[in-house]
Amino acid sequence: MATMKDDVLAALAKVPSPDGKPLTQTDALSEIVATDGKVFFSITAEAAAVKQWESVRERAEAAVRAVSGVKSVMVALTAERAGGGTPRSQAPPQAARSPGAPSQGARSQMPAQSARPPGGGPAAPTGIPGVESIIAVASGKGGVGKSTTAVNLALGLRDLGLKVGILDADIYGPSMPKLLAIREKPETIGGTRLKPIVRHGMPVMSIGFLIEEETPMIWRGPMVMSALTQMLREVEWGTLDVMVVDMPPGTGDAQLTIAQQVPLRGAVIVSTPQDLALIDARRGIAMFRRVNVPVLGIVENMSTFICPKCGERTDIFGHGGARAEAERLGVPFLGEVPLDIVIRENSDAGKPVVATAPDGPHAQAYRDIAARVRDGLQVASRPAPKIVIET
Ligand SMILES: Nc1ncnc2c1ncn2[C@@H]1O[C@H](COP(=O)(O)OP(=O)(O)OP(=O)(O)O)[C@@H](O)[C@H]1O
Ligand SMILES: [Mg+2]
Repeated sequence: MATMKDDVLAALAKVPSPDGKPLTQTDALSEIVATDGKVFFSITAEAAAVKQWESVRERAEAAVRAVSGVKSVMVALTAERAGGGTPRSQAPPQAARSPGAPSQGARSQMPAQSARPPGGGPAAPTGIPGVESIIAVASGKGGVGKSTTAVNLALGLRDLGLKVGILDADIYGPSMPKLLAIREKPETIGGTRLKPIVRHGMPVMSIGFLIEEETPMIWRGPMVMSALTQMLREVEWGTLDVMVVDMPPGTGDAQLTIAQQVPLRGAVIVSTPQDLALIDARRGIAMFRRVNVPVLGIVENMSTFICPKCGERTDIFGHGGARAEAERLGVPFLGEVPLDIVIRENSDAGKPVVATAPDGPHAQAYRDIAARVRDGLQVASRPAPKIVIET
């Protein structure tokens, strides 16, 4: 029995590429992902030929939409410069297809996204219409609490009166379904655009909303970028002051590409206090500086353990390491969050502490961090001092 993927491929075989060859016989077509009536794939074109490929993309989308059982289809056109070597993220990713919703400047005092510090390095990617500032929450090391920080920081920014959205950029290990207890699937608008899920007044998007948890994520490189591009540009984010991006762990090529693909205004680095995590945090800082994204500062997570029974304070991973490191690197120290079972239990149960215990000390710690991030965004467009980082 033919699967939906087979039917999709058969439909795409009838779509000619610019040189007349069926799309399925070109290298441009990525893996096809078809789950639950939702179809995703990307077409990779050379930047110079992007115009011709845009009509191929449109025809491909229409052809797949006509396949029986297909409820929605998303086709991303990612462009690549001739000669290889240049990251595909440097080409304009589908900006022309974004809705023309103007950014409402009066809405906030945040600087516009296009203002990146001057200097060499790759050109900034196109912004998202209606979204003032996009910030990444990142770390070199896994499991240090990036996703927990991202959610609570987003809520802290919301509590400061900003309009905030959350994008889960961890394509391989999305966290937002769990951290925000989201089980519903996003609705589509007109078959191509997605409505984000709204939680605690914030629009949220994660690949985890579209794909079952058990589905193996065998994405090829372009597919990862394609999924990210779609979540950035084919989702009705509305008007936002800040979009908080929860980054996947690491500082490898994948993270670098995301840092380049997403038009970031700044990065928040999360680290535990111990030396090993700090080395990774340093790598993270170096990575963002390489792509000219201002580092808004470091958060020390799992900073101190206060025994819930006796109140005794124990510095399980040490204490203060991130503050000292921030000073050494000349980046702001944004604050510390203790290691507390309340944070873990609530977080893992989909009840982020800033939303569910807003009067507690943890919520206050996150709100203080949020205030420093907001302040940092206002100065981030100034060029950073030149600092040599050993990695
Ligand atoms: N301050 C904290 N106190 C106690 N537990 C915490 C704290 N911060 C995070 N955790 C817990 O640590 C675990 C890892 O956190 P989280 O998923 O946020 O890390 P991550 O850096 O995003 O991980 P990954 O690298 O896998 O994306 C989770 O179970 C979370 O609840
Ligand atoms: Mg995470």
